[in-house]
Amino acid sequence: MNNLLADPAPDFDQPVAVLKHCHGRIRKQLATLEKLLAHLPEHGADEQARQAATAVLKYFDKAAHLHHEDEEQDLLPMLLAVAKGEDAATLQALVPVILQEHKDMDAMWQDLHEQLTSIADGSGTQLSASIVRRFVQNYHGHMEREEGIVAPMALRLFGPDQMARLGGAMRRRRGLEQPAPSIGDTVADLRKDYGQARLDESDVADDPMDQFTRWFEEALKAEVNEPNAMSVATVGEDGRPTSRIVLVKQFDARGFTWYTNYDSQKGKQLASKPFAALLFFWSELERQVRIEGRVERTSAEESDKYFNSRPLKSRLSAIASEQSEPIANRAALELHYEEVARQYGEAPPRPQHWGGFRLVPERIEFWQGRRSRFHDRIVYTRQEDGSWTRQRLQP
Ligand SMILES: Cc1cc2nc3c(=O)[nH]c(=O)nc-3n(C[C@H](O)[C@H](O)[C@H](O)COP(=O)(O)O)c2cc1C
Repeated sequence: MNNLLADPAPDFDQPVAVLKHCHGRIRKQLATLEKLLAHLPEHGADEQARQAATAVLKYFDKAAHLHHEDEEQDLLPMLLAVAKGEDAATLQALVPVILQEHKDMDAMWQDLHEQLTSIADGSGTQLSASIVRRFVQNYHGHMEREEGIVAPMALRLFGPDQMARLGGAMRRRRGLEQPAPSIGDTVADLRKDYGQARLDESDVADDPMDQFTRWFEEALKAEVNEPNAMSVATVGEDGRPTSRIVLVKQFDARGFTWYTNYDSQKGKQLASKPFAALLFFWSELERQVRIEGRVERTSAEESDKYFNSRPLKSRLSAIASEQSEPIANRAALELHYEEVARQYGEAPPRPQHWGGFRLVPERIEFWQGRRSRFHDRIVYTRQEDGSWTRQRLQP
């Protein structure tokens, strides 16, 4: 029965509803305060008055502060960060008013707090009618402004990510950390909504290498982590794919070049099946580029040139490592390196089995993350005559 009549607060996964629910509680405490004001002259600090004063004190000393902090530290800064145009102008005018009202109400509360403490412990009956009236009036006006403008704006502008961030901050502020979910649940719940940019047919370059160059420059500018790291997928003779990360060292009209050991697993696979799929994922920009095509070796001169540009220790490592072959332990590997270093000194020559691969692209797809998984995908396909066509693909 009790449960049916209770007024349960919404969960923090609906933080705007929680804030509105707090307003309901504030209204209730304001009504108690007004009743107490009317009650005192006739009854003094009797049991009922003491109980009322205690309840009001408890709410405004703690919960109201947390509520103000939710707005000042999370809700309003988050709104200011996303609002544009008319919304931004509205906030610019309104936020200073809201912050000032919080200060004014806090100051009035200090006076009321002292008087209510005396009533609660039965040592006083003094409650300033003018402060109570101003306090009640200010709070009502303040809450109406927030409910009429701020809450609807948050519901309109915040996506699921922002709601989760706001709810999380409010939960932490109240010490209500949720029990740590299992890693399985965490992985399933990892869900980021994208919305930084868009990719339009009218924005993209005619040549996909120009488009790639543009995006690569943007990745550098955005200081994305390892912008030249890409996954290279190859297939074995048995038709099974494998993939690994390498660093692209050059890209131009001829294709995308990386350096490796020709006797490694990927080297052997490319020798028998000279096709690969490259993948760049620039998460900070919510972008992915997929590149497919035939793979060839770079010329010996090109490989020499790049090999000789590498730091000495990297050159010695390339000689010392039979990449992808098993070895007993780390000590054996380091011993082999020392031998190589002793043998070649400062000028190790490029080993025959080390050099560049270049993927000559036949298909390049640019993917830009968009809201609610409705992403943009534009794919370029190379034609027989070397020209490129492009199409939009469904997300
Ligand atoms: C960030 C990063 C960069 C890498 N760069 C290269 C590279 O440029 N060349 C390379 O041969 N391996 C590179 N590796 C190591 C490869 O991922 C892989 O372990 C190695 O090439 C052996 O692969 P395989 O056995 O499939 O041939 C890199 C790994 C990471 C994580």
